[in-house]
Amino acid sequence: MIDIHLSTQSYATAHVDLLLVLTQNTNKQGTLRELDRHLDGQLFELIQHDDFKANDGQKLLCTTWGRIQAPRLMLFGLGEDFNDSMLEWRQAVAEAIRAASSEKPTSIGVVLNGRSGDLSATVEGLTLGATLVAYRFDHYKKPDTLSNNLESVTYFLPSRSSATVKKSAQQSLKRALILAESICAARDLVNAPPNELTPTEFAVRAEEMAENVGLTCNVHGPDQLREWGMNLFLAVSSGSVEEPRLIHLIYKPKGRRKKKDDKRVVAFVGKGVTFDSGGLSLKPTSAMLGMQADMAGAAAVFGAMQAIAQLKPSVEIHGYIGATENMTGAAAYRINDVILGHNKTSVEIKNTDAEGRLVLADTLSYAVEQGATEVIDLATLTGACLVALGQWTAGLMSDRQDMADAVLRAASQVGEDLWQLPLPKPLRSQLKSSIADISNVGGRFGGAITAGMFLREFVSEEVDWSHIDLAGPSFVDKDLHHMKKGGTGYGVATLVQYAMQEANS
Ligand code: BES
Ligand code: ZN
Ligand code: ZN
Repeated sequence: MIDIHLSTQSYATAHVDLLLVLTQNTNKQGTLRELDRHLDGQLFELIQHDDFKANDGQKLLCTTWGRIQAPRLMLFGLGEDFNDSMLEWRQAVAEAIRAASSEKPTSIGVVLNGRSGDLSATVEGLTLGATLVAYRFDHYKKPDTLSNNLESVTYFLPSRSSATVKKSAQQSLKRALILAESICAARDLVNAPPNELTPTEFAVRAEEMAENVGLTCNVHGPDQLREWGMNLFLAVSSGSVEEPRLIHLIYKPKGRRKKKDDKRVVAFVGKGVTFDSGGLSLKPTSAMLGMQADMAGAAAVFGAMQAIAQLKPSVEIHGYIGATENMTGAAAYRINDVILGHNKTSVEIKNTDAEGRLVLADTLSYAVEQGATEVIDLATLTGACLVALGQWTAGLMSDRQDMADAVLRAASQVGEDLWQLPLPKPLRSQLKSSIADISNVGGRFGGAITAGMFLREFVSEEVDWSHIDLAGPSFVDKDLHHMKKGGTGYGVATLVQYAMQEANS
C-alpha cells in the first residue's frame, strides 16, 4: 500500500512530484491566492485562460516554473454541490489522483483551498481515497521500468492548526490506515489466482494475519469436518484434490464490556470457494472466468477481522470462513445425491453449481453451535443477484428488520451500495424436495431470494441473521471512484462499521 503522511510543513517547500489543490471555487483568496503569489500572478491568469471554474472533476495542470518545490501543480474542482463529508472526500481525492496519474508522479502533495468542516472526516476520506485508488495487483507482471508508480501522498494540514487538531487528525489517519490495509488485504485475496490461493493457502494466510494482529485462529481440516458431520461442506470439496479448510478467527474484547454487549456474540461467515467450476453441473468457460473470486465473502470476513483486532470494539466477534474448491474429480458429489448436513437437515442436490449455500449451511450451523447470537453471512452466492441489482450493489436479506436496518445503516455510512430484498413466504415452496428435507436450488425466479431462504434453514430461529449476496460488487470489470477493476474488498468496511457502531452505540 502507498504511504500516507500528514504534514504541517509548508506545501511550497515540500519535495513532491505534483501538488494537488482541491478546490470548490476560484476566488482570489486562500491557498489559490498564496499560490498565485508564488507563481508571480500567473495562476489566476491561467485559471481565466483555461476557463477553470472548479466544476466537479474539472482539472487544470501547469508547471510551477521552479517557484515552489513541486515541479507541477494540478487544480482539481470539487463542484458547487460538494458537501465536505468523508465519502465525498474519498471520491474526490480518488478521482483527482486518477486524473493526475497521466503525469506519473511517485509522490503527490494534497492541499485544500478553503477549510474543511470536519478535519477527521476529511483525513479519513483522503486516506481511504488515496490508498484505495492507488492499489495495484501487478506482481505477476514483469516489472515495467517505464511507468513509475505512485508511492506516497502527503496531506498538508492548514498551517495554523492547533495541537489538538493535529492530534485528532493523526488518530483519524491511523484508523483510516487500518481500514485501508484491511480492504487491500481482502482485495489481494480476491485477486489472487486460484492456483495460488487454495483453501490450504487461505488458512495459512489467516494464521499469519491472526498472529500479526493478535486474533485467535483455529483451522480445521477434512478429518475434523467428517467428525462433526459437515457432509454438505465435504460434498462440495469431494471433487477436488485440494483439502477444505474451516477457518475460525476469534476476537474477544478486553476489560469490562457495556451491559448490552455482554451477551452478544457476533459471527461473520464467509463463502470461501477458491474456485467454482460448477462441479458436475459444469459452468461454460465464459461463466467460469472470474470464479477464482468466489471467495470474496470470505475475503471480506478476513479483512474485517484484521481491522477489528486493531480497532477493538467492545463486543465479541467471530469470523468463520468455509474454504474449498468446487471441482469435477472422480469423487465429486452428484446431482440427485441426498446429503445430511451438520444440523441434521437432509439436502437433495439438484445442481452442484449451487455449492456456496452448502458450504455456508454447515458453517452457519457451526457458528450458531459455537454460541453466536447474531450472524451476518457474506457470499458471492447467485448470478441472480447480479441480474437483479447490477454489479455495483449487493443484496441484503434478513427476517429481522432491526438488524437489517443496522446493516443497511453501516453500509450507507461507509458508502457500500446495499439494497434489501424481500423474503416472501410463498417462494419458500420452491425449495421443497420430494425425497429430502430441502432441495439445494429453487428454480429460475427469485434465485437470490431462494438462496437466502435456504441459508435461513441452517440458522436457529432464535439467532438474528442477515445475508449479504455480494456477487456483483465484490469483483468489478472497471474502475469507479476509489474502486479498481478486479477485487474491490466490498464488505470489509460495512462489517467493521457494524462492529464498531452497534457495539459502541
Ligand atoms: N458462484 C456462483 C454465483 C456467481 C455468479 C457469483 C456470477 C459471481 C458471479 C454460484 O455458486 C452459482 O453458481 N450459483 C448458481 C446458482 C444456481 C445453480 C441456482 C447461479 O447463480 O447460477
Ligand atoms: Zn456455483
Ligand atoms: Zn459459487
